[in-house]
Amino acid sequence: MDKIVIEGNKPLSGSVEVSGAKNAVLPIMTAALIPVGKSKIYRVPELKDTRTMIRLLEIIGAKVSLNENTIEIDSTTVNNPEAPYDLVKTMRASFYVLGPLMARFGRVKVSLPGGCAWGPRPVDFHLKGLEKLGAKLTLKDGYILAEADQLKGNEIRFEFPSVGATGNLAMAAVTAKGTTILHNAAREPEIVQLCEFLNKMGARISGIGTTTIIIDGVNDLHAADIEVISDRIEAGTFLIAGALLGKITVNRVELKHLDAVLGKLKEAGCKIIVGNASVTVTPPDKLKPVDITTAVYPGFPTDLQAQWVALMSLAAGSSMITDTVYHDRFSHIPELSRLGANIRVDKNTAFVRGVDSLAGAPVMSTDIRASASLIIAGLAASGKTQVSRVYHIDRGYEHIEEKFRVLGAQISRETE
Ligand code: EPU
Repeated sequence: MDKIVIEGNKPLSGSVEVSGAKNAVLPIMTAALIPVGKSKIYRVPELKDTRTMIRLLEIIGAKVSLNENTIEIDSTTVNNPEAPYDLVKTMRASFYVLGPLMARFGRVKVSLPGGCAWGPRPVDFHLKGLEKLGAKLTLKDGYILAEADQLKGNEIRFEFPSVGATGNLAMAAVTAKGTTILHNAAREPEIVQLCEFLNKMGARISGIGTTTIIIDGVNDLHAADIEVISDRIEAGTFLIAGALLGKITVNRVELKHLDAVLGKLKEAGCKIIVGNASVTVTPPDKLKPVDITTAVYPGFPTDLQAQWVALMSLAAGSSMITDTVYHDRFSHIPELSRLGANIRVDKNTAFVRGVDSLAGAPVMSTDIRASASLIIAGLAASGKTQVSRVYHIDRGYEHIEEKFRVLGAQISRETE
């Protein structure tokens, strides 16, 4: 198993380019299963999760070819609407085949994802929504079997604007008979791009980017091409690192997706200069403590909560970081404490007392964003930090250590 080794407390400077967004490309890849034909996806990040998704699409019967950052998915041969436990358990986003395969075949067998490192993460909204569209669901051997002769449009109101449930049901409804209305839908940029892709393939979706998404069913879709949007979480991760470690420019970003994080960085005292599709962050002399509460888009993303905790660990004062999206997403805290951070968690809030410095230590990552948080803290800590279980970071960050190295970090990968 690989680990990342950091010799910390070295200033960062220079520029870095963000990759295509993981959470946009994964549902887009599954949407390519709906029509019969060849879809091309450009700017696909080279990640463990995109490779897992390619394997899943191949098991389902698609032909997938990958050329640098472009994927061609030929869905003509798709014949096995099934997502096996082995893959779903390693990547929950595998559940995104549910909607597309229902749209195409009217039947699908998908393993239930089970729990995750930071809590239960149920999929009940996906399932209830599919039932509302007329699917008959059965649970057998840990698999959900869904069937319908013809899905029928309906009104679905989510209890919470779930990203995955919005995506899955939008995909399921594109070929349903009649109109589907998704109330309290997710507005995340990744869902916006998914719906735009579906429309490019011939779907009739309106209200995209609002909390009410309306889908008028069509008979079938046709293949289409798309370039994946920039990863706003990767951008935010580098900006937070810059806020601690030096003036850096993050290029090829979608500025409007970064409002929440840029606002908070300014509050922390950072100088932010915005270019055409770039942001330059300069750290302040003294980092101010800033509270955050995560929320659905356009709020502060839960996927940057762990990185923000790392930043606040070195702020001049105390801050409170509350996660309203995932109440238990705090597995990074005990590891940050090993580096000398002073943090207490109560319910879904981390109370952070800024310390003057962190000191390197061996730490273990537990999920993608926790790893990013530990890397940021390790870069700021004096001495050596080793982050083990690096496969988590490889799931969601393309060539992260190379990108940090270009910025002047002393970071390398070692095989244990
Ligand atoms: N929820 C339910 N029932 C459901 C679905 C969701 O109770 O059926 C709850 C969840 O437990 C959670 C909240 O609703 O408390 C939001 O979950 P959501 O469904 O929005 O999350 P997701 O679709 O499973 C995606 C991202 C996550 C990101 C969240 C929130 C992908 C592949 N994953 O997950 O990304 O944290 O939205 O923005 O898009 C990551 O990239 O590290 C990551 C975890």
